[in-house]
Amino acid sequence: MRFLSFQSDCSDCLVSFIIIITPLKTPLGLLLNYDRNSIAIQFMEFYNKPQYRCTKIKITFLSVSAARKPSPIRVLTELQQRSPPSLISLAGGSPNPNTFPFQSASIKVKGGEALVMDEPLMKRALQYSGSYGIPELLSWMKDLQKSLHNPPTTGYSPERGQMEMCVTTGSQEGLCKIFEMLVNSGDNVLLDAPTYSGTLAALQPLGCNLINVASDQHGMIPADLRKILERWDPADAQKPGSSVPRVLYTIPNGGNPTGASMTCERKQEVYELARKYDFLIIEDDPYYFLQFQKVSSSDLSLYSQRPWAPTFLSMDVDSRVLRTDSFSKILSSGLRIGFVTGPKPLVERVVLHIQASTMHTSTFTQVTPLTGPVHPVSLLKQQPGFLLFLRVIEFYRSQRNTMLSSADKWLKDVAEWHPPMAGMFLWIKLKGIKDTQQLIMERALEKEVLLVPGGVFHINSSDPCPYVRAAFSLSTPQQIDEAFRRLADLIKDAM
Ligand SMILES: Cc1ncc(COP(=O)(O)O)c(C=O)c1O
Repeated sequence: MRFLSFQSDCSDCLVSFIIIITPLKTPLGLLLNYDRNSIAIQFMEFYNKPQYRCTKIKITFLSVSAARKPSPIRVLTELQQRSPPSLISLAGGSPNPNTFPFQSASIKVKGGEALVMDEPLMKRALQYSGSYGIPELLSWMKDLQKSLHNPPTTGYSPERGQMEMCVTTGSQEGLCKIFEMLVNSGDNVLLDAPTYSGTLAALQPLGCNLINVASDQHGMIPADLRKILERWDPADAQKPGSSVPRVLYTIPNGGNPTGASMTCERKQEVYELARKYDFLIIEDDPYYFLQFQKVSSSDLSLYSQRPWAPTFLSMDVDSRVLRTDSFSKILSSGLRIGFVTGPKPLVERVVLHIQASTMHTSTFTQVTPLTGPVHPVSLLKQQPGFLLFLRVIEFYRSQRNTMLSSADKWLKDVAEWHPPMAGMFLWIKLKGIKDTQQLIMERALEKEVLLVPGGVFHINSSDPCPYVRAAFSLSTPQQIDEAFRRLADLIKDAM
C-alpha cells in the first residue's frame, strides 16, 4: 500500500489530502480536510470494485467498465470545484482563462430579460469542471428529482445503492455509457421494440441478444415479459454464467417512436418481475415533462396529486433502476444536458467513463441555465419546475391535437393510430401497406412529404413494417394538415 500525502499552506486555509493507492486496487480513497475552520468539507470515496451488489442484485461489471479507475486529475478537479476561492491549487493542468478571447456573454430570454454571464462567471464557464457536473446544477437537479419522484433510495447508504446523479451530454451519453457498463457480448437484454433508434445504435454493436417484449399503446406488456422470463429459473439469476437477462430497457412516457405511455399498474408488474428475476431497469424518460394530462398544481411537493403515473425510480426499493432524464425537450436540445440517476456505485462507474472520455459536459452549457440577471441559478430559479414545463406541455398538447384532427380528416380510411398521451410522435399504421420503407424513401419524397419508416425502430430494421412515425413537434398546423393530405394520396396510390 502506498500513501501519497500532499499539504499546501495558504493564508486562508490548510489543505491536506491523502491518496491511498493499494496494489489490490480497492478501495482508492481520497480524503480532503479543510481544517482552518475544523470542518471536514469533503470526503469522497471512489470504489474500484468489479461488482455492484445491493439487496439481492449482483451486477458484475463488464471487463472494460470493471477496469476503469478514477482519473487522479479528474478527482482533483472535483475537489477543487467544491472548494472555496481561497484554495490555492497548483494541482490542475487547467489553462489560464485570462488568455481566452471570450470575455462576457449576454443571453436574452423570452420575456425580455437578459442573462448576463459576467467576467468571473464567463471564466468559469470556459474552464474545465468536475465530471459529475457543476455542483449548482447537480444539486438543483437532485432536489428536483427528489420532489418529483421521492426515490426510496434517497435515504440508503452508498453501498446499498443510495440515489446518486451525474450530468451527461444529453441523455444519449448516459444511455451509451450505461450500456457499455452493463451489457456484454452474448448477454440477453430485454426491451420493447419498436424503440428509439439511438438505443439500438448503442446496444447492437455490443453483440448482445436483444429480446423483444411485446407492447401496445400502453407500452410494454407485463404478461409478455412474464412469458419470456419463464424460460429461466429465477434461482439461476445469480449463478455465474447464467443467461437470465440482467437488463431491461424501456421508454415509459411518450415512447419514441410509438408515443406509448405505461400505466402505473404495468410499471408495478414490471418492477415485480425485475425483483423476481433480479434484473436492472433502465428507465429512459426524456418525454417525462411532455405528459399531456393536466397538472393542477405547480407545487412540486404535491407528488401524489399529479395525474402522471409514478416512475420506476419512485418505486425503486431495491436500487435496481437507472434513470436517464433530458433537458433536450424543455430547455434546449443543442445545449446537450442530460442526467443519470441511480444507485451510487453504478453512477460512479458511469462517471469513471466520463472521466476517461468527455471529462465533463461542457461547463458553458451547464452554467447557461444557471446564469441570471441578479444572481446565479436564475433561469431555473425564476421558472421553477412546473411553471417552466407547463408552457412546454401546453404547446405540445396543442400540436398533438392538431395532428390528431388532421389525421382524422385525411387518414381515417387508410391508416390507424392511438392518440399519444405524451411526447412528440404519432405512430401510424398504414392500411394495405406491408412495408413503409420504399414508400417513404422513394415515393414520399416525390410527393414532398417526409416521415420516418417504422422499420428503423425495430431490432431487425429490414423486417417489413407497416408503420410510419410522424413528429408533431416542429411543423405548423397548416404544414401538418398538408403533409397528411399528401400522405393520404400516397397511400391511396400505393394500395
Ligand atoms: C427515447 C429517447 N431517449 C434518448 C434520447 C436522446 O436525447 P438527448 O437529446 O437527451 O440525448 C432521445 C432523443 O430523441 C429519445 O427519443
